[in-house]
Amino acid sequence: MKWKAINMPSQEGKIAIVTGSNTGTGYHIAYGLASKGASVIMACRNNEKAEQAKLNILKDIPHANIVIEHLDLSDLESISNFTKSIKNQYDKIDILVNNAGVMVPPQSITTDGFELQFGTNHIGHFALSGLLLPLLESAENARVITMSSIAHNSGVIDFEDLQSNQKRYSKWGSYSQSKLANLIFAIEFNRRLKSNNSSVTSLASHPGWSATDLQRHSLLFRFLNLIFGMAPVKGAAPCLYAATMDDAPNYPYWGVTKIGEMHGWTGRAKINNKANDESTALRLWDVSCELSRVSYLN
Ligand SMILES: NC(=O)c1ccc[n+]([C@@H]2O[C@H](COP(=O)([O-])OP(=O)(O)OC[C@H]3O[C@@H](n4cnc5c(N)ncnc54)[C@H](OP(=O)(O)O)[C@@H]3O)[C@@H](O)[C@H]2O)c1
Repeated sequence: MKWKAINMPSQEGKIAIVTGSNTGTGYHIAYGLASKGASVIMACRNNEKAEQAKLNILKDIPHANIVIEHLDLSDLESISNFTKSIKNQYDKIDILVNNAGVMVPPQSITTDGFELQFGTNHIGHFALSGLLLPLLESAENARVITMSSIAHNSGVIDFEDLQSNQKRYSKWGSYSQSKLANLIFAIEFNRRLKSNNSSVTSLASHPGWSATDLQRHSLLFRFLNLIFGMAPVKGAAPCLYAATMDDAPNYPYWGVTKIGEMHGWTGRAKINNKANDESTALRLWDVSCELSRVSYLN
């Protein structure tokens, strides 16, 4: 469907958190929500970059209501400090966008010893969503949107070696695993919310192939960005659709729909059967509670 951020309804009175919003799709998600009147909390790990991004948004939208809060998703203590600070300042959150991500870095671990991609992209957002759940439940019909990827199709949740400790590190394998985990989480979170009669809805989205800083660790992909990459503002649209449109909760996963879902307008994205497998989802939920030390909706 030919839908753009400008078609979003007013977001006046809403409070939104967007992780990793200093650049890439997150920047355009924050921009889009602010342009429609939402108060936006930019949850970023680098204050300097976040300040510059905020200034850029304010240049175009001088009345935008934007604040920056420090959040490093590769550090459980930072996530806990972030949520404490949010709870001290706000009594509800209407929109949480789990957008931040890393792709194919050299093998490395988070502060808590998790493989960086699984730890940041999945475990960090799992913990954040759980800790913010009381504030989300205080809003009227809050939504949580988690960013997945077409890479989820090649993902495998390797329960025997989630952190790539035992087998040889595959940077693409770990990225795909984390993006499959993001989609499984979004679907399973929604299932648990609904069976608890929660007013909160959890959905997922993906931005096709957007030319952003995500490809910073791959020279080849940085070059291919020039040929195949779409403007990140277009990649942000499915997430904004999922976060704000009335009919979005009727379908779990929104993306772009042309050329193998790499480009095009927003629509219903294809969900690999692996992401709908309930036994994998149950096991991943349990492991994620254990690793993040944040237990919810059990
Ligand atoms: N671009 C694509 O084609 C594509 C395709 C499919 C899915 N996605 C997904 O879309 C999301 C956004 O990616 P993007 O393309 O916009 O990439 P990007 O331009 O690299 O932006 C990623 C954002 O995440 C932040 N981030 C990384 N690690 C973090 C951490 N530990 N704590 C807090 N923030 C952290 C980055 O902060 P810094 O600037 O400080 O590094 C940046 O703000 C990701 O989840 C990605 O997997 C992107």
